[in-house]
Amino acid sequence: MPPTPSPRRDGHRVTEAHALNRNDAVAIARAFLPQHRFGNRAPYYYVRSKLASDPLYGGVVAILRDSRAPLLDLGCGLGLLVHTLRRAGVELPYRGVDNDEAKIGRARAAAAAADLSDTRFERMDLSASLPEHQGSVALLDVLQFLPYAAQERLLDAVVPMLTPGASLILRTGLDDGSWRARVTRGVDEFSRWVRWMNAAPTGYPSREALNRRFAAAGLIVDFAPLFGRTPFNNWRIVATRPV
Ligand SMILES: C[S@@+](CC[C@H](N)C(=O)[O-])C[C@H]1O[C@@H](n2cnc3c(N)ncnc32)[C@H](O)[C@@H]1O
Repeated sequence: MPPTPSPRRDGHRVTEAHALNRNDAVAIARAFLPQHRFGNRAPYYYVRSKLASDPLYGGVVAILRDSRAPLLDLGCGLGLLVHTLRRAGVELPYRGVDNDEAKIGRARAAAAAADLSDTRFERMDLSASLPEHQGSVALLDVLQFLPYAAQERLLDAVVPMLTPGASLILRTGLDDGSWRARVTRGVDEFSRWVRWMNAAPTGYPSREALNRRFAAAGLIVDFAPLFGRTPFNNWRIVATRPV
């Protein structure tokens, strides 16, 4: 049975989320260097600074460290999660999907450059279709870009994908009226404006609604802040199917 870290008795996991150290960030970012000397180095610098500043990926590795369940990464972007997992020695089968053709192209090229095992990427619009899967699921900074109905459909579809011991790991802003929530929305809107994101944010879920949904499905739920040194209202929510 694929083991994932056992939740503590009070339902909270030990949180051990931190950004990557500089060496690991640089080593991973190298896979995003251009093939030609005068090619575009922006993805390299973006990946390096993102990995060195955002506790997101370390926070997911902490959950999946001992898991062997296949992982589906919904809205995977450049696939930074799989690079971080492999660097940490986590070898579970990985499949990333995203609707941005250019990001999927870069993700494939970087995975090939880094020679990542058991890794594949596909273009898919999550507001129109959903992949089949059994195992764990990552949904990191994606939910807010989907229309509300598609968010609901996606969360409903993900729950039956979780096999015993497997987890849904979600990072999202929460709609809690805080100043961090306002900054998060503002930056997501800015990312759309500068065309880094291909969609504007629609809405962020509330903690109560997520808790109710996952608890009703019999999952063990854990909320942990994942602010790091950022001003964002980022939370890691882990919903695990008991073994
Ligand atoms: C902020 S990025 C997060 C990327 C990745 N999850 C990570 O944390 O490194 C959000 C991603 O969601 C993707 N996305 C937005 N709407 C989507 C949709 N309808 N279907 C699939 N992917 C989508 C974007 O293309 C983008 O790569």
